[in-house]
Parts: sequence; C-alpha cells; structure tokens
Amino acid sequence: MNRYKVAIIGCGRVAEKHLKAYSKLKDRLELVSVSDLDMDHAKQLLAERGFTGVKIYSDYEEMLNTEKVDICAITVPSGLHYKIATFCLNKGIHILLEKPMTMSNTQSKELFELAQKVDKKIAMGHIYRYFPIVGILREDLKNGEFGKITHGTICVRWGHGQDYYDSAAWRGTWKSDGGALMNQSIHAIDLLLWLMDSKAVSVTAKLARRLRNIEAEDVGMAVMELESGALAMLEGTTATLPNDKEAMFSIFCENGSVSLGLKKGKPSLNIRNGKGRSLNFKYIRKQLSKGGFKSFSYALNPHTGIYMDLVNSIDNNTQPIADAYAGYSSVDNLLGIYKSAKEGHSVALPLDSEFCSEDMIGFFEKNENNG
Ligand SMILES: NC(=O)c1ccc[n+]([C@@H]2O[C@H](COP(=O)([O-])OP(=O)(O)OC[C@H]3O[C@@H](n4cnc5c(N)ncnc54)[C@H](O)[C@@H]3O)[C@@H](O)[C@H]2O)c1
Repeated sequence: MNRYKVAIIGCGRVAEKHLKAYSKLKDRLELVSVSDLDMDHAKQLLAERGFTGVKIYSDYEEMLNTEKVDICAITVPSGLHYKIATFCLNKGIHILLEKPMTMSNTQSKELFELAQKVDKKIAMGHIYRYFPIVGILREDLKNGEFGKITHGTICVRWGHGQDYYDSAAWRGTWKSDGGALMNQSIHAIDLLLWLMDSKAVSVTAKLARRLRNIEAEDVGMAVMELESGALAMLEGTTATLPNDKEAMFSIFCENGSVSLGLKKGKPSLNIRNGKGRSLNFKYIRKQLSKGGFKSFSYALNPHTGIYMDLVNSIDNNTQPIADAYAGYSSVDNLLGIYKSAKEGHSVALPLDSEFCSEDMIGFFEKNENNG
C-alpha cells in the first residue's frame, strides 16, 4: 500500500472536510503543505484540526515548485479551479478538484483531456456518488433489476441565508460561483444522470432570484430529456430555511422505485419493488456485505470515501468513481441549463460551443428591465 504526500490549495470551509479525511486515512495520506492567501487563517485551521509540521505558503505555485507532492486538493473559489488544476496537472500531480470542475464547458473538457494526456487522475468533489448504497443501486438500475426507467427527479433545497453569501465576495457571483444550481446542485445533477445511466440530450430551464441579494439564481428548475428517452427533473434552491436542508433523489421504474437523500442531516431511504414492498433492509445488508460498517461512516464525511477511491485508483491505475469525465459532463449540463434560461428555449446537449457562467452576467437585470 502506497502512502501519498498531499497538499491543499485553499483553506476555507470545505478544506475542513479534507482535513477530516486525512485524519481518518493516516496510513494512506500525509499532509505536507497548504496554501492560502490568508496564511493566518490556514495556520489556525491546521491547529484546530491537530495538524503539526505542515508548511504554509501564500503562493501555491511556490509551494508546488518547492514541495514534493503526489496529490493536490483544490478547494479555492470555483472561478480559480481551471487555472490551478491546469498548473497541478502540468506539474504531474494528481488532483482532488472541488465541484464545479470549472465555470466553462470548454475549459472543463480541456482539463478532462489534459488529465488523460499527462496520465494523472482527477477525482471530483461530487460527494453524492460516495454515499453508501448509491453504488449498488447504480449497478442494479443498470442491470435492469428495476426494469425500464421512466423518469427521475432531484430536489436540492439547500437553504443559505444572506450571511452565507456575504461571507465571501465570490459567493453568488456569475464569474466565480454561479447560484443555487451551479454551486449547491451540480453534484446532485451528476448523481441523478449517473444513476439513470444515460446522457442528457436536451434541457429546458428557468431561473429566478427571489430572496437572496446575489448576482446569480437562488431558485432554478429544469427538465432534461435523456438519450434513453427517460426524463429528469431538477429543482435547486438556496432560498429555503438554512436549518431545514434537504437533498432528495427519486427514480421511477417499471418494476419499482428508488428514493434516497438527506433531510436535516439525516439519511432517508425508500426503495420499493414492483409490488410496493420495501427493499430498504435488502440494500442495507448488501452494503454491509460489500463495504462493511466502515462504508456507512463515509456518509458522515464523503470526502473520506473520495480520497480512499482516489488513492486506490492511483495504486491500480483505474478511474475514480467521480472522475474527470463526470466533472466535465456535469458542467456542460449545468451550463446548458443556464443557456436555456438565458435564451428562453430548449438547448441541445452536449453544448456545441463554448458557454461559461460569466455569459450570464446581466441576466436578471435584463429580464427585470424587460418586465
Ligand atoms: N464538495 C462539497 O461538498 C463542497 C462543499 C463546499 C464547497 N465546495 C467547493 O469548494 C470550493 C471552495 O468553497 P469554500 O466554501 O471552501 O470557499 P471559502 O471561501 O470558504 O474558501 C476558499 C479559500 O480559498 C482561499 N483562496 C482564494 N484564492 C486563493 C489562491 N489563489 N491561492 C490559495 N488560496 C486561495 C481563500 O482565502 C479561502 O480561504 C468551491 O469551489 C465550492 O464550490 C464543495
């Protein structure tokens, strides 16, 4: 078993989840250095999490030119992902890249292709693929255990108050973040299409900005048509109560249905066969025999599962469960949603030309003026 040297670029909110993963995976990962523009904050975070002897840099290029690192976690604002990920890959470093992969479909495709060219892994921070039972359900849905899939839905009611958006200048901006769909819902869209095992061929969408004082959307809805003929419906919002967060996925099939998700931090599972009988315990048992109790603990911090998968994929030269293609295709689908809302009609997927989140600048202002 190899032990890999790891570094973090960006020591904000999500970096804490990465640090928790390193604490759990000490036999596989050694944190050697971190980089953040705010070095004092980085120092404080490391101390709070009990990490000692970790070097701190303000300049990530200097860090990676100095330290020998096998894996780099990129946990900076989304608008910086492309530049930093390109730098890491060109230095021959595997990356764990937070979602969304980039803010542009062509830049995401470039990263996917660059990773192949330099033969390095990109593991995406698409946490939902790492929840227990999800992988087993994907196999069973794919193998026809539930029959033909008719449609799937996701709702991500991930309430954030204005204080969350005011906590950093990049949040809720088209250039660096996007809104409730690009930030809070992209990994849910990724999971739904992965479970339904089909690609989106078109999308029709609407966006709204109802409660939060931000540039981008706080409510978004979309209907996607999939290659298989099934339909997928998405609802994503941050304009709900911050203390009542919910992310729920449902897939309906000829011979049963699957619903899973989180509500107020608690898991929810409802798997039924064609006669309406619950299969919940069958799937819990399947997960226990496949991954043991440990695999259920990944629900508490899915980043541990992402790192475990990444180190195994480096060891065995396989692709991570949430790989570079997942990063690219989810960004393309998400930008298709934005483009459809902007143009007021359905758009074909994958997009046939470059579209980036910045192309949405002025979207709400223009609509308000027209209204
Ligand atoms: N997978 C998940 O569950 C999940 C959850 C939250 C956030 N995210 C993603 O993680 C990323 C970061 O989100 P966050 O909430 O932690 O943001 P944050 O604002 O809390 O942290 C970002 C950090 O990056 C630092 N930074 C900015 N520019 C830098 C640079 N050039 N070099 C080094 N450090 C730099 C900032 O100082 C800050 O400490 C976003 O892309 C977000 O979408 C993913």
